[in-house]
Amino acid sequence: MGMENIKEGDVEIEVHEGRSYDKEVFYNPKMEFDRNLSVVVVSVFGPRKVCDALSASGIRGIRYKKEADASEVWLNDANLKASRLIHDNMRKNSLCGEIRNKDAAVLLREEDFDFIDLDPFGSPAEFLDSAAGSIRSGGLIGVTATDTSSFFGTYPRVSRRRYGRKSMKTGYNKELGLRILVSAVIESLGRYKKTFYPKICYFREHYARIFGKVAKGGKEVQENFRNFGYISHCFSCGWRDSGFYKNCKYCGNQTEVVNVYMGKLNNQNFCRAVAEECGKRGFDEESEMVNNLTEDMEVPYHHDIHYIAKKHTIPVKKTESIIERLCECGYKTKKSVYSPTAVKTEAPFDKVVEMIK
Ligand SMILES: C[S@@+](CC[C@H](N)C(=O)[O-])C[C@H]1O[C@@H](n2cnc3c(N)ncnc32)[C@H](O)[C@@H]1O
Ligand SMILES: [Zn+2]
Repeated sequence: MGMENIKEGDVEIEVHEGRSYDKEVFYNPKMEFDRNLSVVVVSVFGPRKVCDALSASGIRGIRYKKEADASEVWLNDANLKASRLIHDNMRKNSLCGEIRNKDAAVLLREEDFDFIDLDPFGSPAEFLDSAAGSIRSGGLIGVTATDTSSFFGTYPRVSRRRYGRKSMKTGYNKELGLRILVSAVIESLGRYKKTFYPKICYFREHYARIFGKVAKGGKEVQENFRNFGYISHCFSCGWRDSGFYKNCKYCGNQTEVVNVYMGKLNNQNFCRAVAEECGKRGFDEESEMVNNLTEDMEVPYHHDIHYIAKKHTIPVKKTESIIERLCECGYKTKKSVYSPTAVKTEAPFDKVVEMIK
């Protein structure tokens, strides 16, 4: 297989020619957005010892070293061809780092880090425990998950197996999916008397990505678990509420209930700092997305107008008009940061249905 030269950010690397998944060593140009944003997150957070645990071509770790000024970068991949390519790509950019060719779980058992990036094929579930053991207090964890069909609700039982709870296809399933991932990370860290405070959580195209800060201590762990709670959902009428309810309060049918992290997914100050830094570096699309995340309301789910209209066989109304009407009734309401056709509101479900009607 021939090689081609790629320029991304401030670095230049060699990758195999061909489509991402056919390459001997994986490289997906579509993930440049995510890498740009990750570089800025690492740069703003400022960790000392960084681990790109599933590195493939080395592109992330190389960019962390060059563009985020990380003092010590470890790049690892279990594929021997990948670790050789990482060597070549580091040399090509005149950079030094620790390069390993190990199972990431083994490396993470051996070394402690201030930032761990988990960017696997599919699910990160199998790496969460070793990352939880390895991450230092005050450190940062970044996790990508591309097994969206499991935690966005298409395969609830796969979600149960990987992340400890079933997913639900609800109209707010994507935000719920982020909460499922965050919950799994918090629970993994809890076993090591550590916890995880989400800083930036988003989904885009085929993947979800979450970043959070780690703290150590039994008290911190217990307090963060207080942010967990139940969401009850009725698949007959679309009713949902925070709390454990066996039966729907709108139509009386049986509900499905999930226990997840209900707290904030995006830290305003951190998001603002990242958005500003993205702007300075010319990552305008990244900046806009992160700025938008700062607008998120403290309600753990939104109401998708299309989903509810379909359940009640009523015509769809414009999101803006629903927001206006709910605000007029005195309920704080905003467009959801996770969907243009959904609203986040303090209004109860029956009010939202009434407004759509
Ligand atoms: C999605 S790719 C990483 C892409 C890369 N982070 C980027 O931004 O281009 C996942 C990589 O993980 C590697 N991998 C899979 N299982 C692994 C394991 N248990 N330990 C270490 N590396 C592993 C694969 O060889 C592959 O190169
Ligand atoms: Zn119902």
